[in-house]
Amino acid sequence: MRKIPKERTIDNTLAVLMDGYPFLTKRMEKFNSKIFKTRLLGEEVICLYGKEAAALMYDNSYFWRQNVIPKRVQNTLMGTNGVQMLDDEQHHHRKALFMSFMSRDKIQRLMELMLRYWRAYAQKWEKMERVVLFDEASEVMYLAASEWAGVAVDPTKVREHAQEYINMIFGFGGVAMRYLRGVKARNKREQEIGQVIENIRSGKLDVPKNTAAYQIAWFRDLDGELLDTKIASVELINVIRPIVAIANYVAYSALALHEHPEQRNKLASGEDKYSQYFVQEVRRLYPFTPFLGARTRKGFEWNGYQFDEGKLVLLDAYGMLHDPEIWPEPYEFKPERFSNWSGSPFDFIPQGGGDDFYTTHRCAGEWITIEAMKVALKFLTLEVQYEVPQQDLSISLVQIPTKPKSGIEISNIVYKGHGL
Ligand code: HEM
Repeated sequence: MRKIPKERTIDNTLAVLMDGYPFLTKRMEKFNSKIFKTRLLGEEVICLYGKEAAALMYDNSYFWRQNVIPKRVQNTLMGTNGVQMLDDEQHHHRKALFMSFMSRDKIQRLMELMLRYWRAYAQKWEKMERVVLFDEASEVMYLAASEWAGVAVDPTKVREHAQEYINMIFGFGGVAMRYLRGVKARNKREQEIGQVIENIRSGKLDVPKNTAAYQIAWFRDLDGELLDTKIASVELINVIRPIVAIANYVAYSALALHEHPEQRNKLASGEDKYSQYFVQEVRRLYPFTPFLGARTRKGFEWNGYQFDEGKLVLLDAYGMLHDPEIWPEPYEFKPERFSNWSGSPFDFIPQGGGDDFYTTHRCAGEWITIEAMKVALKFLTLEVQYEVPQQDLSISLVQIPTKPKSGIEISNIVYKGHGL
């Protein structure tokens, strides 16, 4: 049996907060190994790297999600007892609900809503000196996602509610105020969305049958019972929150356009294939998901290493997106590289891996994310003209999750009219 290199430490949780995204890669390099053990949040964790490791981790016969998500992540980003925490039949049944929102026509409808809000916002921006694109994008995403999902929006609270979703997303890796803001936002959203679920069930609120709000309110678990109101609110938030999160990829796309102005010409050729490469490269290069986690459901041997039952395992998603063997010159922005990408479900994992959306925990919203990024990209390149004034465009790799520091301020905005 091969010995798994082991870090001598009492607990490395603080080091994660200090090293941020490169935490796992740094140690892989130190041990010159694609596997090592460390201690995090009071337990021994096996850390893995690489395509074969990803294929292993997404194999449901070896791994599951019992006791994987730390409390601080449940209290902010994910909530409790949502689809992310389920296994086997229960997971497949709940995941099918999410995948039913991902039909071509439903995604198309969401994209139309996004475009409508982008255009309305561009007209508003013309009257403003400068705007922070990340904040504006989070509102556009929030408005489109809510309308699409069948959740009414209070027009006087768009900023507040969009920010609450952002606070949930950015709360889990924070200490002190950032974490507490995330907890507060989750409690408030769950309360309000829970009310929406109850109003639909009591008949006080009439929403179209094909919306996520309706489908989740009336969804029956395998035991034939409706979901507990709190769980239903967690799931409806699981639809709206990650759409709001796409604001970060919009900000990163604007940053890529700014740093690589030659890309505008390539995009202007209007080839859909190129915009696909562009958004894939944004999802690869710019940091968002740091690690992925699962727990062994039985003991087994892999590549000569022993994995005991019940071990927490982390996969270095950020590291793998910057692996020079998979992505030559990994820190260069080169959308063309995707013309040769194999399409493997295990080597490009910005939103998780897995070869089947329905039975693995691969992100349910990957298609929406890609399409929403393409709509935003076309809007930014074809329909608006703007300048990017001096600002701090850096991205901290220490903060998890991260975003461009300035949020990408733009100024002198001109809306050129419908070009799409
Ligand atoms: C799961 C990232 C957008 C819905 C995940 C996972 C990641 C992720 C890393 C976990 C994979 C795993 O545990 O193995 C992202 C990122 C997004 C995004 C970075 C873009 C900013 C979306 C969108 C939706 C969505 C737009 C839906 C509207 C979900 C759901 C799960 C999930 C329901 C749980 C899947 C399961 O447990 O089976 N996402 N996601 N995500 N995502 Fe996304």
